[in-house]
Amino acid sequence: MSSSNSEAPLTAPPTAISDRESQLDPFDWYAEMRQNNPVRYDERRQTWDVFRYEEVDRVLRDHETFSSDLTTATVQPRGRDDDSGVLTMLRADPPEHGRLREFVNERFQPGAIRTNRVRIEELTAKQLAQIEDNDRIDVVSDLAYPLPVSVIAELLGIPIDRRDQFKQWSDAIVARAPEDTDAHTAVQQRRSDAWTEMRTYFSKLIEERKNGTRDDLITLAATATELDRDETIGFCILLLIAGNVTTTNLITNAVWCFEEHDVTERIRAGEIDRAQAIEEVLRYRSPVQMVRRVATEDVELGGRQITAGERVTPWVGSANRDPEMFDAPAAFRPERRPNPHLAFGRGIHFCLGAPLARVEADVVLGALLDRFSTIEPDLTDRTPRPTFHGLMTLPCAVER
Ligand code: HEM
Repeated sequence: MSSSNSEAPLTAPPTAISDRESQLDPFDWYAEMRQNNPVRYDERRQTWDVFRYEEVDRVLRDHETFSSDLTTATVQPRGRDDDSGVLTMLRADPPEHGRLREFVNERFQPGAIRTNRVRIEELTAKQLAQIEDNDRIDVVSDLAYPLPVSVIAELLGIPIDRRDQFKQWSDAIVARAPEDTDAHTAVQQRRSDAWTEMRTYFSKLIEERKNGTRDDLITLAATATELDRDETIGFCILLLIAGNVTTTNLITNAVWCFEEHDVTERIRAGEIDRAQAIEEVLRYRSPVQMVRRVATEDVELGGRQITAGERVTPWVGSANRDPEMFDAPAAFRPERRPNPHLAFGRGIHFCLGAPLARVEADVVLGALLDRFSTIEPDLTDRTPRPTFHGLMTLPCAVER
């Protein structure tokens, strides 16, 4: 979940190819890189790019050689974001990583998350009720975007009257604009303001929750003796950022893939298992295309020599299309099994929210297919979402 620096949009391939279509379709380019340049140094971004499954998997598993603490890099990315000072599990190595993750692990286990399913269904039904008489909907703004924000806000225990503000912060943090433009400066300013406001807001809330009388995640973090105040704030902010746009994109990408590959009817009819189809969406159009690491020692990877302190970018979106691991990787096969995709990462940083994201996507897609007998996405004007892999809008003609 790379939200920690402000280089080119994260889904854009790190070459001159940065137009809209290529951001949404970097897959031929990945194939070329896997074939000809599977581990290569990009001078412009000053990072090693890693494209094949085997090496991406190795980098993710080997947290001793490939650190998540980007502050240890000898070369720092240009225009660092304000989150660089916040210590969270995402950017920590052992032993800090365990300390920052273990207190909350239990709450995100599949069993614990299943108990939230009914509430997620209620929130989805509420959202759907607002559009049930429409003949056109936008999957993103009507459903895929508001739902994950509401869910995480509720789990954290954010008061209802602040949830709109919460959405705005979330947007400001993941927004991106081309470098060296006025828009870039404005986006950076908004992001910086959002960090300051969030810190102030969470500080106050954490103080209030220290009495431990509530059963939400802010209370859990506020009363966790192993976290200091900044780490508690960092945890709240990480959950806000890590879980929202990623899940929005999973839901949107699913509607898009199901339509593009003509499987919606078979999923609705139960001929294809919905949960399995969602796994294929995660592989085929991974919401997070790449993550970031720093080499802690000199190491050989894919025949190239990486020096301690150099930055490394494993492209999970490319690994997930590697023919060495997946049969016919360019084919969308909703019944693919096994499906060892890396969309949620691997190793100690494996996505904490994976069980939650899976339930949310399953509930929302199930409800959407139940509610509307036809859903026809209009994919003529596709605008990529900054930072993660997905669309800004997905207008659909629908019939009940
Ligand atoms: C970590 C993807 C949803 C919270 C990660 C990582 C990936 C990822 C690739 C690993 C990052 C790395 O190795 O550097 C996704 C995708 C999602 C999703 C594709 C939705 C489809 C969520 C949700 C939450 C969440 C809903 C929380 C509510 C986290 C956290 C980490 C993480 C806290 C850091 C774990 C650690 O460092 O130990 N996610 N994520 N994610 N994700 Fe997710």
